[in-house]
Amino acid sequence: MTWQDWIRTVEVEPSFYAADFAQLGDQVERLLRAECRVFHYDVGDGHFVEPITMGPVVLKSISPLIHRSGGVTDVHLMVENPAKYFEPVADAGGDSVTFHYEAVEDVDATIRAARAHGLQVGVAFNPESEPEDVAAVTGDADLVLCMAIHPGYGGQKFMEPTYDRVRRLRLALPNTVHIQVDGGVGDENIKRIHDCGATLLVAGTAIFGDDDPAGAYRQLVDALA
Ligand code: DX5
Ligand code: ZN
Repeated sequence: MTWQDWIRTVEVEPSFYAADFAQLGDQVERLLRAECRVFHYDVGDGHFVEPITMGPVVLKSISPLIHRSGGVTDVHLMVENPAKYFEPVADAGGDSVTFHYEAVEDVDATIRAARAHGLQVGVAFNPESEPEDVAAVTGDADLVLCMAIHPGYGGQKFMEPTYDRVRRLRLALPNTVHIQVDGGVGDENIKRIHDCGATLLVAGTAIFGDDDPAGAYRQLVDALA
């Protein structure tokens, strides 16, 4: 299975970073019942980004739940030396890894290293990097993640230049490569981000900050219609 099979035109992806970890399994079940199929899992190492978030251990607990309902998890590696984590992520049931353009010397070799572990691959880039420079080396990736915030923490404000950055990226990438946007995505901007060319929309606070995450997920899906 590949991203081409997973994406139903456009996907809203709940970001576990904002979840209530005391109720993680229950929240996953509710989202799956609300027809959510793609989940976003943030790994921060305390070096590439300031916080240490979560790693393969927690992923291993929730992967069987997600896979049982036909769901998948994309693992956003906000880490130095991302290739070091491909094997543990694959062993823990991760389906795709997204590493940062700024964290590696050789993007192409890193994409190939991820595929060697049977993983789908994304390449993320920060607000300081130029979309065209990233597109020039990511034609073989499955997705390119345009960060709409400085990575590290949830709950930050969506950066307005992102709309234009997504448009530029869409023009520079082959049509087969999906564009993902992460950071500050909510009801008020999700449609406009999609209209700029993004088909994978990550939402942490907008989903898990709500008393009813499954309802908030449905609301974001409806906002895209
Ligand atoms: C933070 C992570 C995001 C985060 C998004 O750097 O990469 O995935 O969870 O959170 P919100 O949607 O609250 O901006
Ligand atoms: Zn993320």
